[in-house]
Amino acid sequence: MKIFGIIGNPVEHSLSPLMHNSAFKYLNIDATYFKFKVDFEKLKYAILGADSLGFCGLNVTVPFKEEAINYTNPDKLAEQIGAINTIKFGKKIEGFNTDAIGVFMALKEITEIKDRNILILGAGGAAKAIAYALSKYARIFIANRTFKKGSDLAKKVGGESIKLEEVFNIIKSVDILINATTVGLNEDKSLLYHEDLHKDLIVFDLVYSPVKTRLLKEAEMVGAKTLNGIKMLLYQGAASFEIWTGIKAPISIMEDAISRFFDPVY
Ligand code: ATR
Repeated sequence: MKIFGIIGNPVEHSLSPLMHNSAFKYLNIDATYFKFKVDFEKLKYAILGADSLGFCGLNVTVPFKEEAINYTNPDKLAEQIGAINTIKFGKKIEGFNTDAIGVFMALKEITEIKDRNILILGAGGAAKAIAYALSKYARIFIANRTFKKGSDLAKKVGGESIKLEEVFNIIKSVDILINATTVGLNEDKSLLYHEDLHKDLIVFDLVYSPVKTRLLKEAEMVGAKTLNGIKMLLYQGAASFEIWTGIKAPISIMEDAISRFFDPVY
């Protein structure tokens, strides 16, 4: 049996096992996908150990996407982004980033991206992939708790950085707001509240646990259009699946598995 998994901390909320195991089952692939909670100082051993044990692939989630790249041979895209979310084991330990394609596909289903003003909250591994992917088409603003990290990322993608406390200065001209921080993950908190938002925004939260985060609730209060993190989860997962197996991912099966989780009578 082939072994796959996700490493992160926290990781309990992850729906990746559900999504990938449903795809393996549907395609009769003899494989199983597990979740592994890893301590930060043991990340290296987790990756090298998985390689030694003959694992086939791993996803990498918070807070390891940037650190994990150091234990892999990243492809060009992952290297440019500076973060990975997918590892393939073989002759080498290869690192990939499928968050970039995931965010692009999720967003373009609901809106035009070209020439939009996009404000990204965060500058960690997920934010880096998103900023990189969207900066080719849109104007990017980055607001991060650690300002220096945000301004470094903005500089790298040709965008602008702004202090979190000063977001109100630009919010009127923002078309798409993306939360790429962990704020709201398994907690009823948000970096921005309804008084900071407006109805012409598209508000996209990468956090999908809970599926309707506090930020999305606040956005609904002002009549803004919202997008939860499920489509992004789906598209980045499908791209990882294809890297590991070389087989086209059964997207509708994977989406069905997630939908059933949220609505068992679906
Ligand atoms: P991921 O891999 O999902 O991107 P990460 O690399 O750990 O996760 O990044 C987490 C992001 O959430 C960072 O931008 C972090 O801000 P810092 O760079 O200042 O650490 C942001 N973040 C986490 N907790 C936060 C909080 N309580 N308030 C504001 N931002 C927070």
